[in-house]
Formats: sequence, structure tokens, C-alpha cells
Amino acid sequence: SLVTKRTHTFGLIMPDIENIFFSSFAKRLEANCRRHGYALIITNTDDKYAEDQEMMDLLIARDVDGLFLIVSTESYQYVEMMADRLKRLNIPYVMVDRVYPEFNCNKVFFNHEMGAYLAVKHLIEQGHRKIGCIANKLSSVNRDYRLDGYMKAMREYGCEVHDHYIMEGNYRIHSGYHATQELLKTDITAFFVCNDMMTLGVFRKLHESGYAIPQDYSIVSYDNTIAPFLSDIKLTSIEQNVGELGDTAFQVLFDKLNNDQLAHQEICLLPKLIINASVKPIL
Ligand code: RIB
Repeated sequence: SLVTKRTHTFGLIMPDIENIFFSSFAKRLEANCRRHGYALIITNTDDKYAEDQEMMDLLIARDVDGLFLIVSTESYQYVEMMADRLKRLNIPYVMVDRVYPEFNCNKVFFNHEMGAYLAVKHLIEQGHRKIGCIANKLSSVNRDYRLDGYMKAMREYGCEVHDHYIMEGNYRIHSGYHATQELLKTDITAFFVCNDMMTLGVFRKLHESGYAIPQDYSIVSYDNTIAPFLSDIKLTSIEQNVGELGDTAFQVLFDKLNNDQLAHQEICLLPKLIINASVKPIL
């Protein structure tokens, strides 16, 4: 049972430890754990389904008292198997940031549709109508909601959406680079990029091609993790506050651990548009 043999250890499974969004989240979560006398084992899956499974095995074998789970993009192809596996876990867990919409469990995540909508609306309000979108791979929930937000804003303001405006990336730098190569063949004036890592790739490709931001191309990015590291570009980005995410995820798991009877909590946090200067008004 949940109360018998506690190890005061939690496990965290996450897709990309190099991405500041995830590492900042892990830092905040670890601080919460430590404050409450828990150690946190941090694992990295490289955004792979097989690693999700392996890390779960590894953490269970270490007798963790509970799990924080940020699933891989790949796992969306295996939702039923993952859900089945999660149902059989006999420790409390919380899905963080990326959730399975139909699956009933503890969840803490941001409203991804709203974040994308705010980003694209901002571009449109500055006069942009031809907006490229670099999203994650098909069918992962964050991608789908963010794409919905993009489409919603584009439609609401009567902007035409073409298939070649929408590119698939994998939340890594090189995918932003390659997507930009393609988007430069179109007539877009602005980019909506679904995470800051891919935006770094966009920067590199634009720079290599001799384009300046925002003079030649405007950008709104997602996560708001890299702006403080940039000296020449003042990046406008959607913030998903990792402090809020880390504190809330910890609280949800901690509550569940201390009260087995507690109903599942689903907490949806709100993203925020942080306006800097990577969007040129073209009114
Ligand atoms: O940068 C990683 C992205 O993947 C974030 O936007 C986060 O929401 C995630 O799922």
C-alpha cells in the first residue's frame, strides 16, 4: 500500500534535459522535493517511447514513492499502451505539461491553445497576415492544441492558411533550422515557433541567409526561456511559468501521497505573452 514502505524518493521522467524549459522545471521541482525531505531522481528519455518505458521500470525498481511524468512525443502513437501501463502503477503519479486528454489521472499542464492564439494574434495585430508556423510532430497533444490556436487566430482575422505555412519540427534546434529553409521559399513575413529551441535554429538559418530580425522577419516564440541569453534579439515569446508548473505538480503529487482517497486533480495553468521586440509592426 501507499503508506507501508516509503523511500522519500520521487522520480521525474522528462524528454530533454538540455532544453531549459525542462531543466528549469526540474530545478524548481527538486527544490520543492528537498524542502519536504524528498530526493528527486531525474531521468531523460530523448523524447522516445521506449525510454519512457525503461525509465518507468528503472524508477519503480528504485521504489520511488511517486512519479512526475512528462511523456515523450512518440508516446502519442502508443497512448493506449501507456495508459494501460499507468493504470497498473501502484504508486501515485502526475502527468505534467504533456497529458493524454482522454486519460483520467492527475494532470498539471498549460493551456496550449491559448498560448498559440495569443502569439499569433499579437503578430496579426502588428500587421502580419502571412505567418508560418513551426510545430511539433503530428498528433502529440501540445502540437495539436498549439496548431488549433494558430488556426483559430488566423481564421478569426481572415488570414489565409496554406499547407506550406505549417512545418513539422521536433522541439530541437536543427528542426527549426530545416523548417526555416522551407519557409523561406514562401511569402511569409513572420514565424510562430512552438518552442525556443527551434527558434534558435530559425535564428541560425535566418542569419546565414543574411536576414535580420525583426527588420526582415518577425518572430514570436514559445517557452520564454532563452531571451535573457540573447544580446542582439529581444525575443517575444509565450511564457509557461515553470515555477508555477513545478510548485503545482509537486503539490498535486504530495497531496495524493498523503491522501490515497483524494480524487484526481486536473490543473490547467495559463500561459502569458511576453512582448519584447522581435515583431516589426507593418501597419
Ligand atoms: O520546449 C519543449 C516544449 O515541449 C514546451 O513548449 C513544452 O510545453 C513541451 O511539451
